[in-house]
Order: sequence, then structure tokens, then C-alpha cells
Amino acid sequence: MKKFYVTTPIYYVNDLPHVGHAYTTVLADVLARYHRLLGVPTFFLTGSDEHGQKVQKAAQAANLTPQEQADQTVVRFQQLWKKLGITHDDFIRTTEDRHKIIVQQILQDLLQRDEIYRAEYDGWYCVACERFYTAKDLVANACPECHRPVDMIREANYFFRMSKYQAWLIEYIQEHPKFIQPDFRRNETLGFLRKPLNDLCISRPKSRMSWGIELPFDADFVTYVWFDALVNYISAIGYRSDEAAFHKWWPASLQLIGKDILTTHTVYWPTMLKAMNLPLPETIFAHGWWLTGESKMSKSLGNVVNPMDMIERYGVDAFRYFLIAEMAMGQDASFTEEAFIRKFNADLANDLGNLLSRLLNMLGRYTQGKLPAAHTPAPAGAEEQALWDTVQAAVTSLERSVADLRLHDGLGAALGAVKAINRYLEVKQPWTLAKQTDPAPLHTTLYAAAEALRVAASLLYPVMPEKMTVVLRSLGQTRTTPKLEELRTWGVLKPGAPVKDFGPLFPRVVAGEEQPPAPATDGPAQPPAAASSELVDYDLFSKLELRTARIVAAERVAGATKLLKLDVLMGEERRQLVAGIALHYEPEALIGKTVVVVANLKPAVIRGVESRGMLLAASKGEQLRLVTLDGELSSGAKVK
Ligand code: ME8
Ligand code: MG
Repeated sequence: MKKFYVTTPIYYVNDLPHVGHAYTTVLADVLARYHRLLGVPTFFLTGSDEHGQKVQKAAQAANLTPQEQADQTVVRFQQLWKKLGITHDDFIRTTEDRHKIIVQQILQDLLQRDEIYRAEYDGWYCVACERFYTAKDLVANACPECHRPVDMIREANYFFRMSKYQAWLIEYIQEHPKFIQPDFRRNETLGFLRKPLNDLCISRPKSRMSWGIELPFDADFVTYVWFDALVNYISAIGYRSDEAAFHKWWPASLQLIGKDILTTHTVYWPTMLKAMNLPLPETIFAHGWWLTGESKMSKSLGNVVNPMDMIERYGVDAFRYFLIAEMAMGQDASFTEEAFIRKFNADLANDLGNLLSRLLNMLGRYTQGKLPAAHTPAPAGAEEQALWDTVQAAVTSLERSVADLRLHDGLGAALGAVKAINRYLEVKQPWTLAKQTDPAPLHTTLYAAAEALRVAASLLYPVMPEKMTVVLRSLGQTRTTPKLEELRTWGVLKPGAPVKDFGPLFPRVVAGEEQPPAPATDGPAQPPAAASSELVDYDLFSKLELRTARIVAAERVAGATKLLKLDVLMGEERRQLVAGIALHYEPEALIGKTVVVVANLKPAVIRGVESRGMLLAASKGEQLRLVTLDGELSSGAKVK
């Protein structure tokens, strides 16, 4: 492969990112990282879709200008990508000049070449989808996409002659089976194309919707948001501004989308490219939905999972792993915290984390914390060879899964290799071998397990870059990125190199209990700070007014993952407090608890919420428990 250009949809900045957005972006990131490891020149583009009705409406609701709405929300996406370790090469915002200028040039050119024309039009318009439909498109007199009511609108508009490309597009799709993936999505698009294709309305009168790129030839109109947004895939890489860069990357190798935007990407986009005389992307891959339980995850259903919360609770790499391992590419999958914890414990804590800690333990005990000598230039015996073969089969499977867009299969094989190493150790029993006088069998075993783990960790590196770096460094590797050509080479780990124990890789999660925030992974655990030994007078202590209080209401503070807003009763008095305990307690679980409050603390406003007093809690490392009463006492009692 000469190059790899991968894109995600550009996300609307009308709302905050959720697990669905995180999935597409992590998927693109994993694929980009694999290709970079393979030495393939790679360009990974993501960005934000900032024009159109959705953003304009959100801005109105928030009392902001659309640009302010975009500026505030885009930061939340960019912060999340940073947190998630996303390695995009560019982030394009459609309100940037570099994009707007190119959209206008394209429009001007298409008008001149009669690919765009002006006409009176009337039709059924869906406000939510921002799309016109003909009467026969409607389903039960409502929008065929979202089933909301539609309005009859008559106006002048500009149209792209999409219909004339219908026959060409059908033929192109049939002759290029890789163009739309998975196969059943290709059939879906071909099904759509069995009905006559209309021309595409690509303008919006400013009188109705003004937040968009002005048509270069008619200042009364702005560009339809999709005709603007799709262009990002070429404006970002230099179309009409940097021809060398553009020709280096276009056509895209892989455009990842969710199944919700299949038609725009497999009908509008290819016909637009055709009208521009540009080649089509090699593959448009539509993945499935993340559901919450059985239903679609959506803001309106109130069941969205906030990726930031998951990261804070379980760590970035575990979250990335779950997204990629749990969703068969193309199918729907369900996101529940229970399923997450189950997979975390089974794959990461048990199989992978335990393997590393067992191995490091034994290397510490039996070979003075150093990798033992490898006795042969190849796996020593039949069992070592069998283990190595399993690991090599995982390498092959992963390579194929990247090419075939079946990453979950490749990950399954990598985890299979991890399990095989665990089984190998069970069979060889190094703890028994350690009792023999000949150290060779022990050394052979530990070295073979370490070598196999090196390869498994390298395979998992693009999915869990932080944690797999820890594994490789634990095994005495000094590079931070694995070398893929070493995946097939036996004997890369240096005999005699010291191993390092950075502590548990994935501490087991106990379901039902609140989790401490994930500890930093990239280094040895810090020793606990020495307890302060400064003494205070009784006077100073007695100035503190400590009282018991009963919690009567609790809720999360919007936008703050760690904070809860609590109402407490102290005798007759009801008070509001803000406490940084949201990672450790569910709000519901707190109601009725009697706690201890510093009652005479100066009031403070935390994240816009007033707090009058402070809860006492004990914390150690990442754990935290509230100080409560040993038995019943009415609230408001003094604590001395
Ligand atoms: O459609 N499960 O932006 P958008 C899986 N701006 N993926 C999901 C998902 C879910 N529940 N929810 C969202 C737009 N996604 C346009 C795109 S591109 C030129 C313009 C992901 O903010 C999935 O990739 O509504 C989906 O296609 C995308 O977010 C939609 O994001
Ligand atoms: Mg959407």
C-alpha cells in the first residue's frame, strides 16, 4: 500500500461528544496507528461540521451566536480527542477560511459548467433533517428518515444535477465492490438508487436559515450544510490550494461513517466528486450503532454515555479497548457499564494484567529481575514452538483484520495469544522448574513467555498505546513504539536486560462499587506522601464547627464529573453542599446517610453552585470513603 488516508465524519457542534463519536474516531485512530507502524505514509483527518440549522438552533437555545456556539463546543471534541490519545494529522472546522474559500470555488465552477442551476421549487421539508422530500418520499405523511412532521415550502433555490449521474453511480458501485462496505450497506445504497434520483437542492435562502457559507453567485443564499460539509475531505488536504499535497492523499483510502449518514456519503458525495472530475474514495465503511441496552443511544432518550466519565473511571486504554473489541465492525453493539466491567475484568485484568504481573513476579524471584538467556536462535522445544506459532497466527490474523476491516477479529486473536501464554505457563509450571538444579528449563520457559507477551503487546499497541508501552518497558524494551518487522522475529528481548514492575496494569474492577479514578500508567507508582507531623493547639481545633448532617438530596453537578450537589439537614437547618465524591458514590446511594460536615467553613461557589460547608471523607491512594456515624443520633449533633 502506497499511502493511507483515513477520515471520520466531521461532527456537528450542536452538542457534546458521546460514545458514538468516540467510537468512529478511536476506530480511525487505531487504523491510522497500525498503518504508521507498518511504515505506510498515513494521513488521518477529523474535524467539526459547524454550519446549518442544527448548530444555529443550538446557538439560539444557548443564547449564543452560531460562531460562539461552535467555538465553545468544538473545544469539547478537541479535549476529548486529546484525552483519548487520538493522533489525527489535521482537524478541520468548516467555519475556517481555508474550507469556505474552497467550497465557494467549487460552487462557482459547478455553476459555470451548468452542473448547478436555479429553479423554483416546492416540496416537503423536514426541519430536523434539513431535507426536502417529494410527496412520494414521505412515509405516513412524515419524514422518511426521522418520522417527524414535514412542512410544505415553496422557494427559489439552486440545484445540483445529481439525477444525471444515477446510471453512472449504479454501475460504479456494482463494478467496485470495495467502494461501499460492508456488503449489506452496498445493497442498501443500490436499493435506494432503484428509485429515480432527484437533483439535490444545495442552497438555503438566508431568510429561512442564514448560518452557512454564502453562495458566491447569490448573496441571498447560503450553501446547504451537507454540500459544504462533505467538501472537508478534500479542502483539508489541499484541493485547489496545494495540488502536491492533494495528489499525495486523494483519493481517500478509507472514509469511516456511521450508518446514519450512508446516503449522503454514498450518493451525494460520489456524484459531487464525479461532477468535479475527481476520483472516488477507495472505501466508504459504515459502522453500526452503539445502543444503550436495546435502544439507540441518543440525547433525547437521555441514555448517552459520556466518554469522559468512562475514561476517568476506567482509564483511556480500557475504554479504547472496549470500543474496538466489543463492536463487530459494521454491526450494532450495546454499551452498558456492566458489559464494560465484565470485559475489563476478563480480558484486561485477568488475562493480560495477571499474565504480566505473574511473569514479572517470577522473573523477580527466579532470575534476579532480569530476562534469562535465550538458549537458541529459535523457540527451544515443541511447546515453545507451539506457543510461538499461536502468537504468529495472531499476527497474521491481525494483519488480515486490518485489511478486511474486521478489527474485532484481530483483537480476539491477540487476546487468544495472551490466553495461550497463560496456558503455557500453567503447563510448564515455572514454580516447579525453579526447584530443579538445572536452570535451563526454567529460563527457557520464562524467556518464551516474555517473548510471546512482547509480540502480543505489540499487536495490541495501536489500541492501547499507553498500557502496551508499559508492558514493553516492563520487559526491558526501551523504545516506546514497537517495530512491526520484529513481530515475526524470535529473540528480540535482550537476555540479561532488567525487567521493571510498574504496578498492576489493569486493577480488577469490583462491579457495583464506585471506582477510583484510573491511576497514571506511565511510570512507577508514587510512594504515599509522608504524613504531616505539625502539631496544632486545641484552640485551633475548637474553632472548627463539626456537625452531623443527614443527606436528603443528591445530584450530579452538570459538566463536572467529580462533583455532587447535596442537600443536608443539620437539625432544623437545610443546607446545600458541593462535594467532590461523584467518582466514588452514586447520588441515590447517599440519600439518608448521616455524615460529618465542617459547618463553619466560608461559603464557596464551585462550578456555579453554592456550597455552604464541607463533608469529611477518608481517602487513601485513589480510594475515598465518607466519614459516617457509628449508630443513630439526630442530625445537627456536635462532633468533638
Ligand atoms: O452526521 N453509535 O454529524 P453527527 C455509533 N455532521 N456511532 C455514532 C452514534 C452511535 N450511537 N452516534 C453518532 C453528522 N455516531 C454530520 C457528518 S460528515 C461530512 C458530516 C457517530 O455529529 C457516527 O460516526 O451527527 C455518525 O455517523 C456520526 O457520529 C454522526 O455525527
Ligand atoms: Mg447525527
